[in-house]
Amino acid sequence: MNRINELQILPSILAADFSRMGDEVSAAVEGGADGLHIDIMDGQFVPPITFGIQMIRDIKPYTKEVPLEVHLMVHEPIKMIPELSEVGVESVIVHLEACLDLEDTLIAIRTHGMKSGVAVKPDTKIDELESVLEQLHIVLAMTVEPGYGGQSYIESVEPKIKKLRSLIEEKNLLTQLEVDGGINESTIKSAYLAGATRFVCGSAIFGNSKNIKNQIKNLREVLGIS
Ligand code: DX5
Ligand code: ZN
Repeated sequence: MNRINELQILPSILAADFSRMGDEVSAAVEGGADGLHIDIMDGQFVPPITFGIQMIRDIKPYTKEVPLEVHLMVHEPIKMIPELSEVGVESVIVHLEACLDLEDTLIAIRTHGMKSGVAVKPDTKIDELESVLEQLHIVLAMTVEPGYGGQSYIESVEPKIKKLRSLIEEKNLLTQLEVDGGINESTIKSAYLAGATRFVCGSAIFGNSKNIKNQIKNLREVLGIS
């Protein structure tokens, strides 16, 4: 299957300058972002605390029609689903490792009119995912340990990305395969060749905030979709 038409670049606002968040979001949107990736961390599932619903509400006027995806690095993410839907989030990604009941959590996301996704840490096996894969809009293979931006891409996750890609193809699913962590001009092609279709990029895009548009363009060029 030709994946080239499905490829999407999603800037992660975790790497933006928080004091200028509206401008950073506008620059990413005008620079051609296919979606915005919003990392919510609770200080328990991962050590840092980032931001919550208020941040999403505040950036919404700057996002135009670009869809928002929330990556929940929180314990028991089901509790946050209703408020995420109220602020206009399109997709919610929960961690397999953080859900008390994965099926119930996915049902809650869909019942609230949003697209569902599941993320797995680099060392988490995907056996448990196989039974829910066909319900998912997004499966996210973390290519760093969740919690911090600016880490190096873990190449040893690629066999798992390949396995997920073959499951998606075998079952003829529409599920998008996302990678998050250490994705930049040097690693994006390798993640694509392993099977990814959605690429979350934090520091590679916001690292030099004067050049957000160029950074997105360069990443597209490496993928051959400019
Ligand atoms: C890390 C977050 C990522 C982070 C990626 O736990 O999930 O979305 O922002 O940052 P980079 O692209 O700098 O690795
Ligand atoms: Zn993320």
